[in-house]
Amino acid sequence: SGQKTKRDFLGFSHLNAAKVIELFDYSHHIKKIRQEGGQDFRPLRGKTVAMIFNKPSLRTRVSFEVGIHELGGYAVNLEGKSVGVGSRESVEDIGLLLSRFNDAIVARLHEHSVIEGLAKSATIPVVNALTDLSHPCQILADAFTLYEKGLWNEGTKVVFVGDGNNVANSWIELAGLLPFHFVLACPEGYTPDEGLLAEARAKGVSTIDIMHDPMEAAKDADVLYTDVWTSMGQEEEQKARLDAFRPFQINAAMMKEAKPTAVAMHCMPAHRGEEISAEVMDGPQAIVMDEAENRLHVQKALLVKLLNHDEYRKFHLTH
Ligand code: CP
Ligand code: NVA
Repeated sequence: SGQKTKRDFLGFSHLNAAKVIELFDYSHHIKKIRQEGGQDFRPLRGKTVAMIFNKPSLRTRVSFEVGIHELGGYAVNLEGKSVGVGSRESVEDIGLLLSRFNDAIVARLHEHSVIEGLAKSATIPVVNALTDLSHPCQILADAFTLYEKGLWNEGTKVVFVGDGNNVANSWIELAGLLPFHFVLACPEGYTPDEGLLAEARAKGVSTIDIMHDPMEAAKDADVLYTDVWTSMGQEEEQKARLDAFRPFQINAAMMKEAKPTAVAMHCMPAHRGEEISAEVMDGPQAIVMDEAENRLHVQKALLVKLLNHDEYRKFHLTH
């Protein structure tokens, strides 16, 4: 007995390797249900989710909204501008208020401390749909994509080529949970969050290398991964970033350094000719659309885990 503590998903800190694999197996299960029609599978029936987007989005917003709909729930879409997070309304009041109306909050915000504040005041689960610090939903979908293709094991070398940004930070967080070889190839001055890096390294689960020579880093890679050079909110730095990142493009020459079986990944939106060449982005080694589609499946799995834990547990007891 006692009060159940509500679960948030702000990052990977509350998970362990077994729980991540459990979530992947459930993602696979509900992906199959969808492929078979899935009309009777409504584990979020009667539940509503408030979604706050303080930055642009295509994949995240559509995959959450469609996913919630498919699970029998309802999504309320809020533009950050109209809510006025921290200006029209205090973060604390938003958390308290939405907890009276909804069953969960999905939020895309700037400072990570704001989503932490929201999670603190809300009595319902809060899901990180990207902050300046991290993008855990993305990396769950990425790792699941490799897992379902049989490309994931302790020896998998994932090389992130580009900015030590929110997406790179989430890869580093994952490397603290699941064993693999993670390499970030970034320009000097564009290194990842030091706190997350130190934490992940202290866990001693994976080898995590930070390098500044992208061609050297790409050697024998199983996965070459990239993201935009200028993240949302950094538009003023774009010129300087274009210069700094020029050698960090995933292109055919870089793919040649990787294993012949290597795949190319990109969380998107993609800028062909910048962080990735058109040849690679649209070529046979890219698995970017599978990766994007899997956002839907892993986020649905996550929502069932957070909002209907009995259903989630039932699956794991019977499989
Ligand atoms: N990858 C991703 O999160 O895309 P959006 O910004 O379009 O949601
Ligand atoms: N690093 C990018 C990810 C976009 C999905 C950004 O924050 O804009």
